[in-house]
Amino acid sequence: MIKLGTIGTNWITERMIEAAHATGEYQLTAVYSRHEASGQEIAKGHEPATVYTDLEQFLSDPNVEVVYIASPNVLHYEQILQALQHDKNVIVEKPAVLTPYQYQSVMDELARHPQVRYFEAARNVHMPAFAAVRDYLSGLEMGVDGADFTFSQYSSRYDQVLAGHVSNVFNPQFGGGALTDLGIYPVYDAVSLFGVPERVAYYPTMISTGVDGKGTAILNYGDFDVTLNFSKLSNSTHNSEIYHGREIITFDSAGEVTEASIIRDNQRQILSQLYGKNPMIPEMTDFARVLKDPKQPENVSDYELWLEQMRNVNLVMSRLASSAGLEYPTKLEADE
Ligand SMILES: NC(=O)c1ccc[n+]([C@@H]2O[C@H](COP(=O)([O-])OP(=O)(O)OC[C@H]3O[C@@H](n4cnc5c(N)ncnc54)[C@H](OP(=O)(O)O)[C@@H]3O)[C@@H](O)[C@H]2O)c1
Repeated sequence: MIKLGTIGTNWITERMIEAAHATGEYQLTAVYSRHEASGQEIAKGHEPATVYTDLEQFLSDPNVEVVYIASPNVLHYEQILQALQHDKNVIVEKPAVLTPYQYQSVMDELARHPQVRYFEAARNVHMPAFAAVRDYLSGLEMGVDGADFTFSQYSSRYDQVLAGHVSNVFNPQFGGGALTDLGIYPVYDAVSLFGVPERVAYYPTMISTGVDGKGTAILNYGDFDVTLNFSKLSNSTHNSEIYHGREIITFDSAGEVTEASIIRDNQRQILSQLYGKNPMIPEMTDFARVLKDPKQPENVSDYELWLEQMRNVNLVMSRLASSAGLEYPTKLEADE
């Protein structure tokens, strides 16, 4: 069993632990929280997992092999570096880091710990439906004509914003905003399927807190464009579509990617059946495979591919942000 420690005690950590256990590969052994009570809530039912309120002690626990980081975006960079310096494998929530400089610094630290593995939890590109789309595209003789990817979910935390409370995900000091929170999923889709675009532009709608509440991004690949729509201020039931002559390759929201089809002459052919389980199971399964057998050739090449995708996504995210004049903080200046 891979011994798992967690940072962050919001719902996403509970969902990840449920997925990790569902794979049968992990055991929760330690929890870090700034508050004993929140840590105990996460650890409940996973005895004898240890709860820490001191990050250094948590990272020094020999009973932790991999650290899952689900703290606010702005804290990821320092926490990743600290975990690597303690020779812990790292699974970090998206966006792993906020700038290309941070990406490179993490890679430099990683190079000093060659036995350690580092993953960004971009769950959408580990879904079976995403693999089915990628495999289908790789068999096409002609390139695609374009794509539209959508991922919009009304955030209950926007209600808090409207009531005058700025939660972290809408706070510029925490690296919040629609691009970092939701936009990164369709960016991951596009970069994983088509590579790094030639030119990018991001058109955000800014909200009162100083972050982008929603936006449209255009990724230009020379002879085709990929348009990304994402919002935390409204919902959407739009499917995501890739255009290829008379065919449409379609999957559900760009962040979920739970099922995929091809539509040709109004006939639908299923590429991948609905995945109804916890959507973090596929990524946690992939990461366990690499952690358990890092030298196996397929695992080596998958891991290298994920690192390359991580770098390219980080680069595209940074170019999108710059195109709109958005800047992210490099560290947390003031606590909540
Ligand atoms: N993959 C997915 O589907 C998914 C879904 C949601 C979020 N995420 C990602 O998960 C990460 C966390 O998002 P979230 O919405 O859960 O964030 P959050 O609620 O703002 O914070 C997450 C945790 O970080 C700790 N924290 C909060 N504020 C802090 C501060 N000022 N200083 C130090 N620690 C602080 C808290 O844990 P303690 O109080 O216990 O220390 C909190 O439970 C983000 O990177 C987000 O993008 C991913």
